[in-house]
Amino acid sequence: MNLFKKIITYRPSFTVRILAGLVGFLAMLSVCTIVGISDIGALGERDINFKARSIEAGARTYAEQCARCHGLDGKGIEANGPTLSHISFVGKSEETIAANNVLGSKEVTKSTRLTQLGWTGSLVNYIRGVVAAGIPIKSAADWETIHPTFSQAYGGNLREDEVNNVSNYVANWALAPYESDDVILPPEPGTGGTPRPTAVPLSAEQEKGKELVVSLGCNACHAIRGVMNGAVGPNMTNIATIAEGKVTDEQYKANVKDQPAATTAEEYIVQSIYHPNAYIEPQCPQGACAAGIMPQTYEQSIPAADFTALVSYLLTLK
Ligand code: HEC
Ligand code: HEC
Repeated sequence: MNLFKKIITYRPSFTVRILAGLVGFLAMLSVCTIVGISDIGALGERDINFKARSIEAGARTYAEQCARCHGLDGKGIEANGPTLSHISFVGKSEETIAANNVLGSKEVTKSTRLTQLGWTGSLVNYIRGVVAAGIPIKSAADWETIHPTFSQAYGGNLREDEVNNVSNYVANWALAPYESDDVILPPEPGTGGTPRPTAVPLSAEQEKGKELVVSLGCNACHAIRGVMNGAVGPNMTNIATIAEGKVTDEQYKANVKDQPAATTAEEYIVQSIYHPNAYIEPQCPQGACAAGIMPQTYEQSIPAADFTALVSYLLTLK
C-alpha cells in the first residue's frame, strides 16, 4: 500500500521527466523505422498488386470499348482501327524487379510509330491522350470514323480511373508485343493512307444485295469497308478475292467437312452462308473463329431471289 502511494505521489524533477520523454520518443522512432524497413518488400508487392489490378480492370474496359475497332488481341481491324499491340507501336520492354520488389521496366526497342509522330512523351501518356480526347480529325482515308472521345471530361463515357486503367493495359503489351506483320499498321503520318480503289458501279441486283447484308443482319458480325463494321466474323471487304484463293488453298481443302470442297469463288461463298460449319475460317477479328457462331438457318430463311442478289453483291468485293 505504501509503495502504491509512493508511486502515485512521485514527483520527478524536470530533468528526469525530459530525459524519460526523450528516451520514450527515441524508442518509438526506432520501432517505426525497424517496422518500416522490414516492410519495404511488402510495399513493392502492394505496388505490383496495384498495377496488376489496374491492368486487369483495363482489360475489361478494353474488351468492352476498344476491341470492336482494334481487335481483342490488339492486332487492329481493317478500316476500323490500327494495331495497338504490335512492336512498331508499343516498342518492347523488359520487366525489372529491384531489390526492394519495386517493379519497373526497361525499354529494349523503341516505338517507331511514336518516333514518326515526333511524340517525345511516354507511350502511356500518348495512349491516355488518344483515349481521353479522341482524335478530332481522321488522320488517313484508311479509317471509317474519327477516334471516339472516351473521357467524361470530353463528353465520353469513361471515368478518369477507367481511362488510366485501359491505357495501362494497352501499354503493358510492350512486355510481349506482336512482332509478325499480320497486323493492321497505320499509314505513315502525312501520307494520307492508301488510295481506295474507285467503286465499280453495281447492277440493280447487286445494289439489292448490298442492302440485304444489312437488312439480314450480317452487319452484326461482319465488316465491309464503307458499308458496315461488325467485328465478330471475318472482314468481308475482299471476300470475293478471299473466296477465289480458298478453292486452291490446301488448308481449306483438307479441313472442309460434310460438304464437297468448293471449286469456284461463288461455291465457296454459297457454302459459307448455307453451311457455316462446313469449314471454319481460322482468323476472326477477336481471335480464332469459333464454329456455331454464324446462324445456320440461312438456307431455309433467305428467299431464293434475295440469296442470288446477296451472293452476286459479295462477288463484287474484290
Ligand atoms: C470506333 C472505332 C474505335 C474505337 C471504339 C477505339 N478506337 Fe482507337 N483508333 C481508331 C482509329 C480509326 C484510329 C486511327 C485514327 C487516326 O489516326 O485518325 C485509332 C487510333 C488509336 C490509337 C493511336 C494509335 C497510333 O498508332 O497512333 C490509340 C492509342 C487508340 N486508338 C487506343 C484506343 C483505346 C485504348 C480504345 C478503347 C478505350 C480505342 N482506341 C477505341 C478507332 C477506334
Ligand atoms: C452472329 C454472327 C454472324 C452473323 C450474323 C453472320 N456471320 Fe458470317 N461468319 C461469322 C463467323 C464467326 C464466321 C467465321 C466462322 C466460320 O467460318 O463459320 C463467319 C463466316 C462467314 C463467311 C466466310 C468468310 C471467310 O473469310 O471465309 C461468309 C462469306 C459469311 N460469314 C457471310 C455471312 C453473311 C452473308 C451473313 C448474313 C446473311 C452472315 N455471314 C452473318 C459470324 C456471323
